[in-house]
Amino acid sequence: MKNQHQDKDISFDDLDEAVLPTALATIPSSVMNALYHQTKKMMGRMVDYKELRMIYACAMKEIKTKFDILNTEFNLQYHRNPISSIQTRLKSTASIVEKLAKLHQSVDIEHIDEHIHDIAGVRVICSYIDDVYLVAEALLKQDDITLVTRKDYIAEPKENGYRSLHLIVKVPVFLSERRLEMEVEVQLRTIAMDFWASLEHQLHYKTDFDGKDALVDELRRCAETISQTDNEIMQIRSKMEELIDIPTEDEILFERIRKLDTPIE
Ligand code: GTP
Ligand code: MG
Repeated sequence: MKNQHQDKDISFDDLDEAVLPTALATIPSSVMNALYHQTKKMMGRMVDYKELRMIYACAMKEIKTKFDILNTEFNLQYHRNPISSIQTRLKSTASIVEKLAKLHQSVDIEHIDEHIHDIAGVRVICSYIDDVYLVAEALLKQDDITLVTRKDYIAEPKENGYRSLHLIVKVPVFLSERRLEMEVEVQLRTIAMDFWASLEHQLHYKTDFDGKDALVDELRRCAETISQTDNEIMQIRSKMEELIDIPTEDEILFERIRKLDTPIE
């Protein structure tokens, strides 16, 4: 029997339940097979990608928890918080695709793992410069952490004045059947450096416009001022610590007892 749809184009809107079986019957089985396998492969890749993101998210949480623990410990032991705040972010799919394109790599899971080292990002903001190094070293000392790269843009600021300590570390994520070493990018900086970077970020990714060079110069000068202030503030804090009487053993014990009821988040 001649198929009534064979001689004209079938739009997807026409494919209601009544005509669908007839329309499908016109597609050769080899094409149907190929379509089925392609769809299955695509769904499989989507699930793999989703799982990979989930594992990176776990690695990110682990690193954040490690910093939270360090902050709590410092608070209990030394009565101060070296970390002012912690931010985390998982790189968006759009940014991943953009970065792979820049690197001339096709979008597949192996390339994501091999070429992108900042899927999981943790930003640690400290009040003082010496605390940046203190918490970075305290993290790196932990025996489940492997350092992949360390870039010290505080010791050697970027041309535009950008300052931060960047670490790429590997942390194990334990799943029910597997242990995976996942990379996490950690950026450590002072509050002042962070303030500067968030403003500069708005300029960094903008294409040229009239007056951009002047703004870049102003920002560079501002970064110098911020750096000087960061150093002065740190020195004032050190002097204050020296001038304040060293507490007696009893005072330390009393302070620790007093802290017993401090809520631990
Ligand atoms: P990306 O490809 O941008 O990740 O840079 P990279 O692989 O050379 O690594 P780098 O350590 O230099 O920078 C990593 C991240 O640090 C960036 O994604 C930004 O979040 C931040 N960063 C680096 N340089 C600058 C800068 O000049 N200004 C600002 N605002 N942020 C920066
Ligand atoms: Mg990046």
